[in-house]
Amino acid sequence: MSVIAVINRKGGLGKTPIAINTAKATNSIILTNDDDVVEVVHKNTKVMSLKEISELDFGSLPNTVIDFGGFIEAGTTSIIERCDLVVVPVVNNISSLKRSVNAVDELSQLNKNIIIVATMTTNKADFENIKKVFKDFNIKAFFELKKTELFNNSLNKGLGIEEYLNSMPILRSAYGKKKNQKTESILEQWDKYITYIKNEIGE
Ligand SMILES: Nc1ncnc2c1ncn2[C@@H]1O[C@H](COP(=O)(O)OP(=O)(O)OP(=O)(O)O)[C@@H](O)[C@H]1O
Ligand SMILES: [Mg+2]
Repeated sequence: MSVIAVINRKGGLGKTPIAINTAKATNSIILTNDDDVVEVVHKNTKVMSLKEISELDFGSLPNTVIDFGGFIEAGTTSIIERCDLVVVPVVNNISSLKRSVNAVDELSQLNKNIIIVATMTTNKADFENIKKVFKDFNIKAFFELKKTELFNNSLNKGLGIEEYLNSMPILRSAYGKKKNQKTESILEQWDKYITYIKNEIGE
């Protein structure tokens, strides 16, 4: 069983959609201190404070994803130290990057298994810049998830992306790779990310 943290100091970087869909794809429960849409979309969710989460015996948890609200409270340090994997969503925007660097700096002192997901990218330079900014940190892997309506549209229907894509056959081709398209589609990017995660946790 494994515990994955999805965390950054800044809000609005895509933690919640990533946490929900990671949990769904890996049969995990979600623990969160953020009273957001999470419970609606993922029934196996428990809202509790970070202090309460930090007091749990991680060894007896089922596969778990922890969605940290956009703020850090007491308990964070001890949670991060005990997670098997730390997922940090990062956006290539000057003000949020600075806070992300500080966050990764702190997180890397607590946990050696950190991956960065470049979210909401709009061009190739976004992902390249993020990899450059974090090149001196010991980051295990970088993934890209381009800016998309897929997460919002599925969450608005109360669904994870997989359930949403299955709800209407046309959606998979709408979000998949178009003929002659050179860049990766969001579905290809998600697949790379989730394959890595599943491999990491042995699912
Ligand atoms: N590639 C992407 N990855 C993640 N989210 C994306 C992406 N493209 C667009 N979004 C949208 O960006 C928004 C960011 O998510 P959200 O505000 O829930 O982030 P958060 O980090 O959980 O914030 P908070 O700290 O406030 O909980 C969502 O509405 C999501 O649908
Ligand atoms: Mg959130």
